[in-house]
Amino acid sequence: MKQITIAIDGFSSTGKSTLAKQLAKALGYVYVDTGAMYRAVTLFAMQNELVKDGTLDGAALVDRLDEITLKFVFNPELGYAEMYLNGENVEKAIRTLSVSKWVSHVAEIAEVRKKLVQLQQEMGKVKGIVMDGRDIGTVVFPEAELKIFMTASPEKRAYRRYKELLDRGEKVSYADILENVEKRDHIDSHREESPLRKAAGSITFDNSDMGLKEQFERIHNYALRVIQG
Ligand code: DC
Repeated sequence: MKQITIAIDGFSSTGKSTLAKQLAKALGYVYVDTGAMYRAVTLFAMQNELVKDGTLDGAALVDRLDEITLKFVFNPELGYAEMYLNGENVEKAIRTLSVSKWVSHVAEIAEVRKKLVQLQQEMGKVKGIVMDGRDIGTVVFPEAELKIFMTASPEKRAYRRYKELLDRGEKVSYADILENVEKRDHIDSHREESPLRKAAGSITFDNSDMGLKEQFERIHNYALRVIQG
């Protein structure tokens, strides 16, 4: 079967990574979570006191970008790759609300984006890849054969994220999560560097009122049609 590149973009907590993982598994493709890369750079900034007193020292972070090594290591038990920052598995540490609060600011920095986009394009040289993020169809792989733009209402997305964090044992309030979702939407779509936009040729998918199973089946069928040409 022909191997293609699948780019999935959209607002935060629209279930991009859930869908991307399901598609990758069904098609035997590699899944790359680019949000995890921005989150790992954010964690590095936090661990190295580049986030202090409520501000991010972007210039210092740019100076230290060469100290950051990011790797995805496939975990056969989970069936997908986990994020490693300088040799350490940070999969859990990058999903906290405090990382979520800073990540959009880190993702605004042009030098950070340049470094991560280069890594992503390198990973995409082999076809048969599903990559999700904010700029995959617009910047990283504008030539992707299948581009999906995912959206859902902010309230639905906040509720999903709220439940996810509660299940993981984090003490969070729904109001805080909704505020974070709305703030990130705003920053992600208004930043100067590669703002979140619907890529030319992408299909929009609103899953506000759709279950995971139906969503997967629809997009999987669509992907198979694209692959079979
Ligand atoms: O997908 P996520 O919520 O884990 O992404 C975390 C943040 O990283 C998100 O607020 C925006 C940023 N991001 C980005 O700017 N470009 C990407 N390709 C992926 C994520």
